[in-house]
Amino acid sequence: MPLRAHKLKMPPGAAQRFQAIPLALLFLLLGVVILAIFINGRGSNESIAQSDLSKSVSNHLVVTAARSQPTVRFMNGTDVIWQIPEFPKAVLFIAHGCNCRAGNFWDQSAACPHCIGLPEDRLIVLNALDRKFAVLAVSSSGRCWSKEKDIAIVKWIIEWWIQENKLEKLPVTALGASSGGYFVSALAKEMRFSSIALMIASGVFDSMGVPVGYPPTIFVHMPKDLHINRLIKKNMEALRKKGIDVKEVRCMEFPLTPALLSERIPGLDQAFSLMLFKLFQEKGFIDEKGYLKNDGRATSWKQALKEKEPSSEKYEWLDHIQEELNLAFAYHEMTSLPIDDILHWFESHMGSSTV
Ligand SMILES: *[C@@H]1O[C@H](CO)[C@@H](O)[C@H](O)[C@H]1NC(C)=O
Repeated sequence: MPLRAHKLKMPPGAAQRFQAIPLALLFLLLGVVILAIFINGRGSNESIAQSDLSKSVSNHLVVTAARSQPTVRFMNGTDVIWQIPEFPKAVLFIAHGCNCRAGNFWDQSAACPHCIGLPEDRLIVLNALDRKFAVLAVSSSGRCWSKEKDIAIVKWIIEWWIQENKLEKLPVTALGASSGGYFVSALAKEMRFSSIALMIASGVFDSMGVPVGYPPTIFVHMPKDLHINRLIKKNMEALRKKGIDVKEVRCMEFPLTPALLSERIPGLDQAFSLMLFKLFQEKGFIDEKGYLKNDGRATSWKQALKEKEPSSEKYEWLDHIQEELNLAFAYHEMTSLPIDDILHWFESHMGSSTV
């Protein structure tokens, strides 16, 4: 979601430096990535602690078998939305980032008129459903998650929902992004998860330490955010020292293409995607290779679009476009690109919670 985030301090020139990496180095990097994928693919070797995700996103079109068919309930003062596939094998609780809500994870439908299906968020859910995870999302009580206010409520809701749907035998996993990542890292002290995923968040280990029996933790982040990058390194070391399984997935920037937006945002058509790409070129928002020069939030693309197409009907996709731009710049955004790594992490740590 367009995590209208706190602190967007980019070290000056960081992006330019990145783009100046010579081609040879890029090939070398690609080789390393392929090797890492190869080694990772060989199975459950947990000593592989890191994989880099510099996906060129060559095929942006993502096909999942699952469809958005949520059940929506308002309870304990918040939105609770879920979808359970046939024969679920595990539970996945998802926590959004600041300024976001549970309705971002499912497409708009008669069952959920207020859902908006942001591109990355919906793909996380659809992929999880494909892999037979029963998915549950809750909205935070305030703009961001609060440990004091939300932990008791969310714990209560998850436990109620598991009982209500007779899922007691299944391992329970959790994924949180940004504020939701800090929240999930704290929730994991109060609840038993088989494993967790913290996205663009380093966790609250500074204040709570590493609790005994803490679940295996995968950190999915965008190393361009040097601050979080540094904290994750430190926290991974602390977790590792206590014998807890950890892994890191690093998500890198990728160039925009004329079809990127129409391929990743259902409902946004090709002509509009191409028009916007050309506008970005005209305005100099992207370089000659298609890389954004700045974070989506710091690019005045909405203004430029308004000037060019004052009567555009496509404004319903502004938040969706914003999310993809932030994703391409790879500084701080929800991402579904590493969803395979995340689900594989959950699947390979399912033994630990079933008594
Ligand atoms: C949530 O709502 C239920 C039913 O209204 C209530 O029994 C329960 O105590 C509430 N839980 C919390 C943590 O407030």
